[in-house]
Amino acid sequence: MAIGNRPFLREVSLKREGIESYSKYPFSIPAVRELKDLVLNPDVTFLVGENGCGKSTLLEAIAVAWGFNPEGGSKNFRFSTRASHSDLHTRLRLTKSIHRPRDGFFLRAESFFNVATDIERLDDEPGPGPRIIDSYGGLSLHEQSHGEAFLTLMLERLHGHGLYILDEPEAALSPSRQLAVLRRIHQLVEKDSQFIIATHSPILMAFPKARIYLVDGTGYHSVR
Ligand SMILES: Nc1ncnc2c1ncn2[C@@H]1O[C@H](COP(=O)(O)OP(=O)(O)OP(=O)(O)O)[C@@H](O)[C@H]1O
Ligand SMILES: [Mg+2]
Repeated sequence: MAIGNRPFLREVSLKREGIESYSKYPFSIPAVRELKDLVLNPDVTFLVGENGCGKSTLLEAIAVAWGFNPEGGSKNFRFSTRASHSDLHTRLRLTKSIHRPRDGFFLRAESFFNVATDIERLDDEPGPGPRIIDSYGGLSLHEQSHGEAFLTLMLERLHGHGLYILDEPEAALSPSRQLAVLRRIHQLVEKDSQFIIATHSPILMAFPKARIYLVDGTGYHSVR
């Protein structure tokens, strides 16, 4: 299935040859152990499931395999504050389409703060070109509340024609701001974007025509 210029990423699977044991992290966690050929929706794919089932681990590996920084950000970000990410990305097979996105972002709610810090650092370095913060609305993300800063990112930084990987985007948001994010996701999908989102938010899951995969110890289940 292809809509307009999407999807960018069609399918994710696990290269199983050479994996000796499924009793050790990361192969032991349901999201990895049960990963067969995961078909992604051209618009929005949600990963849902219990705490610890492995949504973040998988999203991060997909993001790294795609070329994003494991801490989050666009392809331009190269900072790293921890090395907790596994080598799982080397074991993933991404089936890409012929379409190439013009924008992209990987957001981990838990390290969003680091993205904000890195923007300030890069802007403090002397150099030509516009300030990065200007593409985030111009106001330091540290001078906005968590939820405000996140919404700013969704509204100002994401331009469309992009692949966006979001880990619990609802984390800092009130219900009304979650609805604002939902509207923004809709706008960006209309502008040829593809989203992969891990979430616990029933509000976000209400996105029409999204594909929702529930991950548990028995596999990936497509649910409504
Ligand atoms: N570096 C690591 N070494 C060993 N185990 C780890 C490591 N990182 C995470 N885990 C374990 O892997 C499992 C999956 O974690 P992950 O963060 O991917 O879950 P999740 O589905 O995103 O959960 P949540 O809904 O709470 O965000 C957890 O049980 C976690 O303790
Ligand atoms: Mg998580």
